[in-house]
Amino acid sequence: MQNQKVLILDFGGQYNQLIARRVRENNVYCEVHPYDMSIEAIRAYDPIGIIFTGGPQSVYAAGSPHADTGVYELGVPILGICYGCQLLSHELGGLVTAAQDDSAREYGKTTTYFDTSCPLFNGIPGESITWMSHGDYMAKVPEGFKLSAHSAACPNVGISDDKRRFYGVQFHPEVNHTEYGRNMLHNFLYDICGATGDWTMADYKKRAIDEVRSKVGDGKVLLALSGGVDSSVAAALLAEAVGNQLTCVFVDHGLMRKNEGDEVQEAFSKWDINFVRVNAEARFLAALDGVEDPERKRKIIGEEFIRVFEEEGKKIGKVDYLVQGTIYPDVIESGKGDAAVIKSHHNVGGLPDYVDFKEIIEPLRMLFKDEVRQLGRELGLPSYLVTRQPFPGPGLGIRVIGALTKEKLDLLREADYIFRDEISKAGLEGALSQYFAALTNMRSVGVMGDGRTYDYAIALRAVNTSDFMTADWARIPFDVLDRISVRIVNEVAGVNRVLYDVTSKPPATIEFE
Ligand code: XMP
Repeated sequence: MQNQKVLILDFGGQYNQLIARRVRENNVYCEVHPYDMSIEAIRAYDPIGIIFTGGPQSVYAAGSPHADTGVYELGVPILGICYGCQLLSHELGGLVTAAQDDSAREYGKTTTYFDTSCPLFNGIPGESITWMSHGDYMAKVPEGFKLSAHSAACPNVGISDDKRRFYGVQFHPEVNHTEYGRNMLHNFLYDICGATGDWTMADYKKRAIDEVRSKVGDGKVLLALSGGVDSSVAAALLAEAVGNQLTCVFVDHGLMRKNEGDEVQEAFSKWDINFVRVNAEARFLAALDGVEDPERKRKIIGEEFIRVFEEEGKKIGKVDYLVQGTIYPDVIESGKGDAAVIKSHHNVGGLPDYVDFKEIIEPLRMLFKDEVRQLGRELGLPSYLVTRQPFPGPGLGIRVIGALTKEKLDLLREADYIFRDEISKAGLEGALSQYFAALTNMRSVGVMGDGRTYDYAIALRAVNTSDFMTADWARIPFDVLDRISVRIVNEVAGVNRVLYDVTSKPPATIEFE
């Protein structure tokens, strides 16, 4: 049996993925498709409801994006958000114009008044804050529609046609600033579209396993396991589905954090799979010998990784399927502009035309990151693997500034471990997006006991960010920093100073390389 599905038609707004996540949080499956999806494809998709997203354009401008007008004849409920609301209005006989004066343009938090007899606003207060971002305005509402919300500046903030089950809002119910946005989406999904909430991870797991089994048959499957969340969850799913037909190749490049290699191996020991751990530390260190430039390090590590994986692939022999941990944000086609772009993302760059395989399996390609984590838990992966913070493929190789040696890597591993341990003891894990230690190539004078030291400085880096594109340095309490510093200097030989990086991104990057 198929899940009920909601269709999100993407008009290029900045919150489009957020809408999809909100729908899925309501246990309703949805997909984001470009606004020009054909009506045949929409019919075949068979949605229980359609959401038009926001977008940067004006509906009355020449060439502005619109959906196939056949969507209005499907008998399926539609919710238009911002541009999507104006589109409904424009196409069904209303009038949308540029706001005449600045007072009718609305940006930011806006007090909004609701007609709570409208099913979209059922059960919410008559007045609350919404998040607006529109310069256009519905001067005339189409026939059959009534007004269901207004603000001081704008009489037409919400429109509804209960007969056809078409609803529009000028604000963004998907963002947190809209106080009752989640309730409105819930009302749309459950009361208006008749959702039953059949999208659960337990159910997804079962279906995904069945699908993999029927596709793979008795074929051989190969997976490059990095220890990151996505490849670990993909491996766990495949392990459950095809057991020993799966070979996971875990390239331990010696640039992992303390205990990491063993933890990954341990997590996979419960499945009857072929788990190959290639201890390639010596080989990586040899290739990186004397290399100081971070970009060169990255290239060397990437190439070496592929070479090791390739050699293992050849040992295994004919492989039918290769698994990749691609996730949904990487595959969503953007509705921006006319040429929709599909990003193709590879977890491990450059993999792999060398192993002779039939097809790529991407079991996570319809899941958001938080859903991948949920699936991981459902499959019984330990929490530390499922909730781990991002870790760069080149690992500690780039967090040791300057040329690498095993001694420096060991020193960094210890310091980083202490940092993580103290953050965990302080209960701050959930409050930081990413935190790690880096080993600077700066040595300076210190005094320990009665003696002079001339040792390295460890840099601590901790940031908060929602998208990792920009980031703010985290305000870790001084007493926590103090404990970390005392422990590192006392427990890690070769370090006599601890520095805390108070630079945001930009101008710095998150990594310290
Ligand atoms: P930067 O340093 O560019 O990092 O601000 C942004 C985020 O990306 C992570 N990062 C990587 N992740 N392979 C990865 O899988 C890489 O080569 C890599 N380099 C940086 C970084 O940890 C941060 O979360």
